[in-house]
Amino acid sequence: MNVELKERTEAGTQDVKERRVVHVATVDRGDDPPTDAREVVFDLQELSCYYGSFRAVRDISIQIHRNQITAIIGPSGCGKSTLLRSFNRMNDLVDSARVEGKVLYHGVDLYDPAIDPVEVRRRIGMVFQKPNPFPKSIYDNVAFGPKVAGFKGRKAEMDELVERSLRKAAIWDEVKDKLDTMGTALSGGQQQRLCIARAIAVEPEVILMDEPCSALDPIATLKIEELMRELKENYTIVIVTHNMQQAARASDVTAFLTMGDDRAGYLVEMAPTQQLFTSPANRLTEDYITGRFG
Ligand SMILES: Nc1ncnc2c1ncn2[C@@H]1O[C@H](COP(=O)(O)OP(=O)(O)OP(=O)(O)O)[C@@H](O)[C@H]1O
Ligand SMILES: [Mg+2]
Repeated sequence: MNVELKERTEAGTQDVKERRVVHVATVDRGDDPPTDAREVVFDLQELSCYYGSFRAVRDISIQIHRNQITAIIGPSGCGKSTLLRSFNRMNDLVDSARVEGKVLYHGVDLYDPAIDPVEVRRRIGMVFQKPNPFPKSIYDNVAFGPKVAGFKGRKAEMDELVERSLRKAAIWDEVKDKLDTMGTALSGGQQQRLCIARAIAVEPEVILMDEPCSALDPIATLKIEELMRELKENYTIVIVTHNMQQAARASDVTAFLTMGDDRAGYLVEMAPTQQLFTSPANRLTEDYITGRFG
Protein backbone atom coordinates (compact mmCIF):
# COMPACT_ATOMS: atom_id res chain seq x y z
CA MET A 1 0.00 0.00 0.00
CA ASN A 2 1.44 3.27 -1.08
CA VAL A 3 0.78 6.18 1.22
CA GLU A 4 1.10 9.51 -0.40
CA LEU A 5 1.04 12.86 1.30
CA LYS A 6 -0.38 15.54 -0.92
CA GLU A 7 -0.12 19.19 -0.13
CA ARG A 8 -2.77 21.45 -1.49
CA THR A 9 -2.22 25.14 -1.67
CA GLU A 10 -4.76 27.58 -2.84
CA ALA A 11 -4.13 31.27 -3.11
CA GLY A 12 -5.40 31.68 -6.60
CA THR A 13 -8.30 34.07 -6.18
CA GLN A 14 -7.50 37.69 -5.53
CA ASP A 15 -10.05 38.12 -2.77
CA VAL A 16 -8.33 35.45 -0.71
CA LYS A 17 -5.68 37.35 1.20
CA GLU A 18 -4.67 34.60 3.50
CA ARG A 19 -2.81 31.66 2.06
CA ARG A 20 -4.21 28.39 3.20
CA VAL A 21 -2.47 25.07 3.20
CA VAL A 22 -4.38 21.89 3.69
CA HIS A 23 -2.56 18.67 4.34
CA VAL A 24 -4.49 15.74 3.09
CA ALA A 25 -3.06 12.27 3.35
CA THR A 26 -4.80 9.94 0.96
CA VAL A 27 -4.12 6.28 0.59
CA ASP A 28 -3.60 4.95 -2.89
CA ARG A 29 -5.05 1.46 -2.99
CA GLY A 30 -3.34 0.54 -6.21
CA ASP A 31 -4.62 -2.99 -6.69
CA ASP A 32 -8.29 -2.41 -5.96
CA PRO A 33 -10.56 -2.88 -8.96
CA PRO A 34 -12.32 0.26 -10.11
CA THR A 35 -15.45 1.11 -8.15
CA ASP A 36 -17.71 0.44 -11.13
CA ALA A 37 -16.53 -3.18 -11.30
CA ARG A 38 -17.62 -3.94 -7.74
CA GLU A 39 -20.85 -5.40 -6.56
CA VAL A 40 -23.42 -2.78 -5.66
CA VAL A 41 -24.74 -3.15 -2.10
CA PHE A 42 -26.89 -0.03 -1.88
CA ASP A 43 -28.48 1.71 -4.81
CA LEU A 44 -30.19 4.93 -3.77
CA GLN A 45 -32.59 6.33 -6.30
CA GLU A 46 -33.67 9.92 -5.84
CA LEU A 47 -33.91 9.46 -2.12
CA SER A 48 -35.47 12.28 -0.11
CA CYS A 49 -35.90 12.14 3.67
CA TYR A 50 -38.47 14.19 5.51
CA TYR A 51 -39.26 15.04 9.11
CA GLY A 52 -42.91 16.06 8.87
CA SER A 53 -43.06 18.61 6.07
CA PHE A 54 -39.34 19.48 6.37
CA ARG A 55 -37.18 17.89 3.72
CA ALA A 56 -33.80 17.14 5.32
CA VAL A 57 -32.27 15.26 2.36
CA ARG A 58 -33.08 15.88 -1.28
CA ASP A 59 -32.92 13.59 -4.33
CA ILE A 60 -29.83 11.57 -3.56
CA SER A 61 -28.86 8.95 -6.13
CA ILE A 62 -25.69 7.11 -5.21
CA GLN A 63 -24.34 3.58 -5.11
CA ILE A 64 -22.37 1.95 -2.31
CA HIS A 65 -20.04 -0.85 -3.31
CA ARG A 66 -19.12 -4.01 -1.51
CA ASN A 67 -15.97 -4.18 0.63
CA GLN A 68 -15.37 -0.51 0.30
CA ILE A 69 -15.31 2.24 2.86
CA THR A 70 -17.55 5.07 1.74
CA ALA A 71 -17.24 8.36 3.63
CA ILE A 72 -20.01 10.93 3.80
CA ILE A 73 -18.82 14.45 4.55
CA GLY A 74 -20.50 17.84 4.64
CA PRO A 75 -21.40 20.75 6.92
CA SER A 76 -23.36 20.29 10.13
CA GLY A 77 -27.08 19.89 9.56
CA CYS A 78 -26.82 18.92 5.88
CA GLY A 79 -28.44 15.55 6.54
CA LYS A 80 -25.50 13.13 6.80
CA SER A 81 -26.89 11.26 9.80
CA THR A 82 -30.38 11.26 8.31
CA LEU A 83 -29.01 9.81 5.08
CA LEU A 84 -26.96 7.19 6.95
CA ARG A 85 -29.96 6.16 9.04
CA SER A 86 -32.00 5.66 5.88
CA PHE A 87 -29.64 2.79 5.01
CA ASN A 88 -30.97 0.58 7.81
CA ARG A 89 -34.37 2.15 8.49
CA MET A 90 -33.18 3.66 11.73
CA ASN A 91 -35.19 6.79 10.85
CA ASP A 92 -38.33 4.67 11.31
CA LEU A 93 -37.82 5.17 15.03
CA VAL A 94 -38.63 8.87 14.58
CA ASP A 95 -42.41 9.28 14.26
CA SER A 96 -42.36 12.17 11.81
CA ALA A 97 -39.71 10.63 9.53
CA ARG A 98 -40.50 9.30 6.07
CA VAL A 99 -38.66 8.75 2.81
CA GLU A 100 -39.42 9.24 -0.85
CA GLY A 101 -37.48 7.54 -3.59
CA LYS A 102 -35.79 4.18 -3.19
CA VAL A 103 -33.12 2.50 -1.13
CA LEU A 104 -32.32 -0.77 -2.89
CA TYR A 105 -30.21 -3.22 -0.91
CA HIS A 106 -28.92 -5.90 -3.29
CA GLY A 107 -31.80 -4.88 -5.53
CA VAL A 108 -34.44 -5.24 -2.79
CA ASP A 109 -36.45 -2.17 -1.80
CA LEU A 110 -35.72 -1.75 1.92
CA TYR A 111 -38.89 0.29 2.40
CA ASP A 112 -41.18 -2.32 0.89
CA PRO A 113 -43.95 -3.03 3.45
CA ALA A 114 -43.02 -6.72 3.37
CA ILE A 115 -39.54 -6.01 4.72
CA ASP A 116 -38.89 -6.57 8.44
CA PRO A 117 -36.91 -3.59 9.79
CA VAL A 118 -35.46 -5.70 12.61
CA GLU A 119 -33.88 -8.07 10.11
CA VAL A 120 -32.67 -5.05 8.12
CA ARG A 121 -30.87 -3.75 11.20
CA ARG A 122 -29.30 -7.14 11.85
CA ARG A 123 -27.79 -7.22 8.39
CA ILE A 124 -26.90 -3.57 8.41
CA GLY A 125 -25.37 -2.72 11.79
CA MET A 126 -24.67 0.68 13.23
CA VAL A 127 -22.04 2.29 15.44
CA PHE A 128 -22.87 5.69 16.91
CA GLN A 129 -20.98 8.84 17.69
CA LYS A 130 -21.00 8.35 21.42
CA PRO A 131 -19.88 4.87 22.47
CA ASN A 132 -23.00 3.33 24.01
CA PRO A 133 -22.21 -0.04 25.59
CA PHE A 134 -25.12 -1.56 27.49
CA PRO A 135 -24.82 -1.47 31.29
CA LYS A 136 -23.83 -5.13 31.20
CA SER A 137 -20.60 -7.10 31.26
CA ILE A 138 -18.25 -6.97 28.28
CA TYR A 139 -19.22 -10.57 27.51
CA ASP A 140 -22.95 -9.84 27.67
CA ASN A 141 -22.62 -6.76 25.49
CA VAL A 142 -21.33 -8.96 22.70
CA ALA A 143 -23.59 -11.93 23.41
CA PHE A 144 -26.74 -9.80 23.60
CA GLY A 145 -27.40 -9.42 19.86
CA PRO A 146 -26.97 -13.10 18.96
CA LYS A 147 -29.22 -14.08 21.93
CA VAL A 148 -31.96 -11.71 20.81
CA ALA A 149 -31.58 -13.07 17.28
CA GLY A 150 -32.28 -16.55 18.66
CA PHE A 151 -28.78 -18.03 19.03
CA LYS A 152 -29.30 -21.66 20.02
CA GLY A 153 -25.71 -22.84 20.41
CA ARG A 154 -24.06 -24.16 23.55
CA LYS A 155 -22.13 -21.99 26.02
CA ALA A 156 -18.82 -22.96 24.41
CA GLU A 157 -20.10 -21.82 21.03
CA MET A 158 -21.22 -18.51 22.45
CA ASP A 159 -17.81 -18.12 24.12
CA GLU A 160 -16.24 -18.65 20.74
CA LEU A 161 -18.53 -16.12 19.05
CA VAL A 162 -17.79 -13.53 21.73
CA GLU A 163 -14.05 -14.08 21.40
CA ARG A 164 -14.16 -13.96 17.62
CA SER A 165 -16.13 -10.71 17.63
CA LEU A 166 -13.82 -9.08 20.17
CA ARG A 167 -10.79 -10.19 18.17
CA LYS A 168 -12.22 -8.79 14.96
CA ALA A 169 -12.81 -5.50 16.75
CA ALA A 170 -9.17 -5.49 17.89
CA ILE A 171 -9.99 -5.36 21.59
CA TRP A 172 -9.67 -9.00 22.68
CA ASP A 173 -6.18 -8.67 24.15
CA GLU A 174 -7.27 -5.72 26.28
CA VAL A 175 -10.37 -7.38 27.74
CA LYS A 176 -9.83 -11.14 27.64
CA ASP A 177 -9.01 -11.27 31.36
CA LYS A 178 -11.97 -9.18 32.45
CA LEU A 179 -14.94 -10.25 30.38
CA ASP A 180 -17.16 -9.95 33.47
CA THR A 181 -16.35 -6.26 33.93
CA MET A 182 -19.00 -3.75 32.92
CA GLY A 183 -18.61 -2.51 29.35
CA THR A 184 -19.21 0.99 30.61
CA ALA A 185 -16.05 0.78 32.73
CA LEU A 186 -13.78 0.74 29.67
CA SER A 187 -12.05 3.79 28.19
CA GLY A 188 -13.89 5.68 25.44
CA GLY A 189 -11.81 4.14 22.66
CA GLN A 190 -12.24 0.67 24.15
CA GLN A 191 -15.98 1.22 24.52
CA GLN A 192 -16.21 2.16 20.85
CA ARG A 193 -14.34 -0.99 19.84
CA LEU A 194 -16.63 -2.98 22.13
CA CYS A 195 -19.60 -1.44 20.30
CA ILE A 196 -18.01 -2.50 17.02
CA ALA A 197 -17.61 -6.04 18.43
CA ARG A 198 -21.27 -5.94 19.46
CA ALA A 199 -22.25 -4.86 15.95
CA ILE A 200 -20.12 -7.60 14.39
CA ALA A 201 -21.44 -10.36 16.67
CA VAL A 202 -24.70 -10.65 14.74
CA GLU A 203 -22.71 -11.10 11.52
CA PRO A 204 -23.96 -8.13 9.56
CA GLU A 205 -22.90 -7.41 6.02
CA VAL A 206 -22.71 -3.67 6.38
CA ILE A 207 -21.51 -1.48 9.23
CA LEU A 208 -22.76 2.11 9.33
CA MET A 209 -20.69 4.47 11.46
CA ASP A 210 -21.86 7.93 12.43
CA GLU A 211 -18.82 9.96 13.52
CA PRO A 212 -17.48 6.98 15.45
CA CYS A 213 -14.31 8.79 16.50
CA SER A 214 -15.55 12.22 17.45
CA ALA A 215 -15.42 11.41 21.16
CA LEU A 216 -11.99 9.77 20.92
CA ASP A 217 -8.41 10.97 21.19
CA PRO A 218 -6.08 10.80 18.16
CA ILE A 219 -4.54 7.48 19.15
CA ALA A 220 -7.88 5.75 19.69
CA THR A 221 -9.05 7.35 16.44
CA LEU A 222 -6.15 5.86 14.49
CA LYS A 223 -6.89 2.48 16.06
CA ILE A 224 -10.49 2.62 14.84
CA GLU A 225 -9.34 3.67 11.36
CA GLU A 226 -6.86 0.80 11.24
CA LEU A 227 -9.65 -1.50 12.36
CA MET A 228 -11.94 -0.19 9.62
CA ARG A 229 -9.35 -1.03 7.01
CA GLU A 230 -9.13 -4.58 8.36
CA LEU A 231 -12.90 -4.92 8.56
CA LYS A 232 -13.49 -3.85 5.00
CA GLU A 233 -12.05 -7.17 3.83
CA ASN A 234 -15.27 -8.74 5.10
CA TYR A 235 -17.72 -5.89 5.45
CA THR A 236 -19.00 -2.89 3.60
CA ILE A 237 -18.58 0.27 5.65
CA VAL A 238 -20.27 3.64 5.36
CA ILE A 239 -18.91 6.31 7.68
CA VAL A 240 -20.06 9.84 8.39
CA THR A 241 -17.21 12.01 9.55
CA HIS A 242 -16.48 15.66 10.22
CA ASN A 243 -12.82 14.93 10.13
CA MET A 244 -11.51 15.58 6.66
CA GLN A 245 -8.21 13.86 7.37
CA GLN A 246 -10.12 10.82 8.53
CA ALA A 247 -12.17 10.66 5.35
CA ALA A 248 -9.01 11.08 3.31
CA ARG A 249 -7.02 8.49 5.27
CA ALA A 250 -9.64 5.86 5.80
CA SER A 251 -12.10 5.79 2.91
CA ASP A 252 -12.06 4.55 -0.65
CA VAL A 253 -14.89 6.71 -1.90
CA THR A 254 -16.21 10.01 -0.56
CA ALA A 255 -19.58 11.67 -1.00
CA PHE A 256 -19.79 15.39 -0.29
CA LEU A 257 -23.16 16.80 0.71
CA THR A 258 -24.13 20.36 1.32
CA MET A 259 -27.45 22.12 1.81
CA GLY A 260 -29.43 24.62 -0.19
CA ASP A 261 -31.39 27.68 0.94
CA ASP A 262 -34.24 25.35 1.92
CA ARG A 263 -31.78 23.56 4.27
CA ALA A 264 -32.30 20.30 2.41
CA GLY A 265 -29.05 18.39 2.04
CA TYR A 266 -28.07 17.32 -1.45
CA LEU A 267 -25.16 15.54 -3.07
CA VAL A 268 -22.54 17.79 -4.61
CA GLU A 269 -20.21 15.04 -5.78
CA MET A 270 -19.12 11.52 -5.06
CA ALA A 271 -15.77 10.25 -6.25
CA PRO A 272 -12.81 8.05 -5.34
CA THR A 273 -11.44 9.68 -2.19
CA GLN A 274 -8.06 10.59 -3.60
CA GLN A 275 -9.68 12.28 -6.57
CA LEU A 276 -12.22 14.17 -4.50
CA PHE A 277 -9.53 15.53 -2.20
CA THR A 278 -6.95 16.35 -4.82
CA SER A 279 -9.01 17.48 -7.80
CA PRO A 280 -12.63 18.01 -6.81
CA ALA A 281 -14.94 18.54 -9.74
CA ASN A 282 -17.09 21.12 -7.99
CA ARG A 283 -16.14 24.47 -6.53
CA LEU A 284 -18.37 23.83 -3.49
CA THR A 285 -16.37 20.69 -2.68
CA GLU A 286 -13.12 22.57 -3.03
CA ASP A 287 -14.33 25.34 -0.73
CA TYR A 288 -15.38 22.82 1.87
CA ILE A 289 -12.27 20.66 1.88
CA THR A 290 -9.97 23.68 1.94
CA GLY A 291 -11.87 25.03 4.94
CA ARG A 292 -13.50 28.04 3.28
CA PHE A 293 -16.94 26.82 4.20
CA GLY A 294 -18.55 24.67 6.87
N1 LIG B 1 -35.56 13.67 14.76
C1 LIG B 1 -35.61 14.79 14.02
N2 LIG B 1 -36.76 15.51 13.94
C2 LIG B 1 -36.83 16.62 13.18
N3 LIG B 1 -35.81 17.13 12.46
C3 LIG B 1 -34.64 16.46 12.52
C4 LIG B 1 -34.48 15.26 13.29
N4 LIG B 1 -33.22 14.82 13.14
C5 LIG B 1 -32.62 15.71 12.33
N5 LIG B 1 -33.46 16.69 11.94
C6 LIG B 1 -33.15 17.82 11.04
O1 LIG B 1 -32.71 17.30 9.80
C7 LIG B 1 -31.61 18.05 9.31
C8 LIG B 1 -30.44 17.13 9.08
O2 LIG B 1 -30.01 16.64 10.35
P1 LIG B 1 -28.85 15.57 10.48
O3 LIG B 1 -28.73 15.21 11.91
O4 LIG B 1 -29.09 14.47 9.52
O5 LIG B 1 -27.58 16.42 9.99
P2 LIG B 1 -26.03 16.07 10.04
O6 LIG B 1 -25.47 16.41 8.68
O7 LIG B 1 -25.83 14.70 10.54
O8 LIG B 1 -25.49 17.14 11.09
P3 LIG B 1 -24.24 17.01 12.12
O9 LIG B 1 -23.02 17.09 11.28
O10 LIG B 1 -24.41 18.21 13.00
O11 LIG B 1 -24.39 15.71 12.85
C9 LIG B 1 -31.34 19.15 10.31
O12 LIG B 1 -31.99 20.33 9.85
C10 LIG B 1 -31.99 18.63 11.58
O13 LIG B 1 -32.44 19.70 12.38
MG1 LIG C 1 -24.93 13.89 12.26
